[in-house]
Order: sequence, then C-alpha cells, then structure tokens
Amino acid sequence: MLGKSIIGMKNFSVEEIRLVLNAARKMKQIIKRGGDKKLSNLRGKAIVNLFYEPSTRTRTSFELAGKYLGADVVSINSGTSSIVKGESLRDTLKTIEAMGVDAIVMRHKAEGAADYATQVVKPMIINAGDGAHAHPSQALLDLFTIEQHKGRLAGLKVAIVGDILHSRVARSDVYAMTKMGMEVHLAGPKTLLPRFFKFDGVKVHEDIEHAITGADVINVLRIQLERQQAGLFPSTREYARAFGINNERLRLAAEDVLILHPGPQNKGLEISSEVTYCERSAIQEQVQNGVAVRMALLDLTLNGGVK
Ligand code: NCD
Repeated sequence: MLGKSIIGMKNFSVEEIRLVLNAARKMKQIIKRGGDKKLSNLRGKAIVNLFYEPSTRTRTSFELAGKYLGADVVSINSGTSSIVKGESLRDTLKTIEAMGVDAIVMRHKAEGAADYATQVVKPMIINAGDGAHAHPSQALLDLFTIEQHKGRLAGLKVAIVGDILHSRVARSDVYAMTKMGMEVHLAGPKTLLPRFFKFDGVKVHEDIEHAITGADVINVLRIQLERQQAGLFPSTREYARAFGINNERLRLAAEDVLILHPGPQNKGLEISSEVTYCERSAIQEQVQNGVAVRMALLDLTLNGGVK
C-alpha cells in the first residue's frame, strides 16, 4: 500500500483490508500500553490535515495517529486559514504541496474532492470524508471494532439505520462490509434512502424492524440536519418514534448485538442515552480504535508498514 492514496473503500481489496486490520491490532496495543507512545516509523514525514468541514474525532485521531508514529502533523482549520479569503481548493492544495508535505488528510463537503486532489498535487491524499461520497477510515474502524468483539466478520448481520442518503459512512461501510462477507441491511425513512439502490449482499428496508431483527451489529447513523433539503425529514419526534434505537427495539436484535455510532450523536433522536451507555455499546471504543486504524493506514501508506 506504500504511496497509495486512500479515497474510498470501493477500490480496496480484501487483502488490503486485512493488512489494515492486522496492523491496527498492533497499534492498539501501543496506545493501550500507556507510557511512551512515540514511535519513529514516520520520523521525517510531514502530514497536513486539511478540513473544510467540522470534525472532532476524525481530525484529532488523524493528528494523534501521525504524532504517535513520529511524523510532523499540522492541522489547517478552514475558518482560520486563507480559505476564508476565498482561496480555491486547488491553490490551497498547491500551497501545501510547495511546503514539502508527504500526505494530506482531507475533508470537504464536495463529493469527489479527495479524488480531485490526487489529480492536482503529488502528496498522498487520504480522504477523511467528501460530502456524502466516502469515509474510508471510518468504515475500516467499524470493521476493526466489530471483529474485536465478534472474532469474525463473515456471516454477521449488520443493520445500518438512519439517514442513509446523506451518509458517506453508510456508503463506505457497504463496500467494506460486503467485501468481508457480511450481510448488510439498510433502514430509514423512504425519503432518506437512496432511490435506485442495487447492491449484491445488501437489503433496503423502509421499516426498522425487519432490518434489526436478529442483527449482530447495529450501526446507528447521525441524522445529518446540515445536509437535508426541505421536506426530506419528518419531525424529530416522528423520527425518534419510527426509527430511534432504544432499549425496547434492541430486544429484536441478537442478544449480544453490538451498537455502533460514528458520532457525533443526536441523543434522543436516532439513539437513546440508555443505549449509548449500555454494555453492548462500543461507541466510545470506536474512538480509540479510530486512532489505531489511522495509525495503521498512515504507516502502511507512508512507510509500507512495520518491516
Ligand atoms: C461522520 C462524518 O463526518 O461523516 N462522523 C465522523 O467522522 N465521526 C458521521 C457524521 O458526521 O454523522
């Protein structure tokens, strides 16, 4: 994977997914052992985080992942850079390239922005979310979290619930999970489901009950109010009643169902507090796994992995 830009899960092979998951396991040990976490794998490498959309988890975990591996990492916030003066994406990328960086981790509201970046600059590009298109590192950390709990991926039933239409997480999960042999069920209000969706290994439901019955994993998506057009979304009360994940609904799922949510959560809307904090929830653990998976990705692409 050395030198490979990471744009989406569509072009990831099963072998590459395995490489990342195996490397992430080792990285997680390093994070968990405490004490000195600083490795030298990426010493002398420079990484810029370029985020045009808000982020807490993804940006911080990419930053820490780079730092734990010994790279120099700088985060650019669109609100305090020349982006507010109207500098174009192309010019911003060229400016960062001129400073001699090795990788740019990028989040942008436009679908295709990360792929476009690979065409205009030489540093490796890692897509940290482009509009509703893709969010590969999130899909990889979802797989990692599931495998840590279930000991396998193939054959598991996963329900992805909520605002599928606007979700780059759902898109990347669908590619990643079906490649690993999982059975994927998507559920949400009709207006928030993709209209013409045909994908081997994926079923789409307009009600939640069919999707979550017997599910081994439920991935609850955030209702992305910032991406909604008028009329797509029922009232919040109606949504919570019809699709919200609460204790009562969980009874339909497998007894040891694992609850995921990429965060940030709208508590009381797509998920209840009791579910977020219940013992079957791995939401907090996803955050730690996010650092490990991003360390693995950076090490494999910038360094070729542990030799
Ligand atoms: C997701 C994102 O930004 O796509 N969050 C994340 O990266 N943890 C999901 C979301 O914003 O709902």
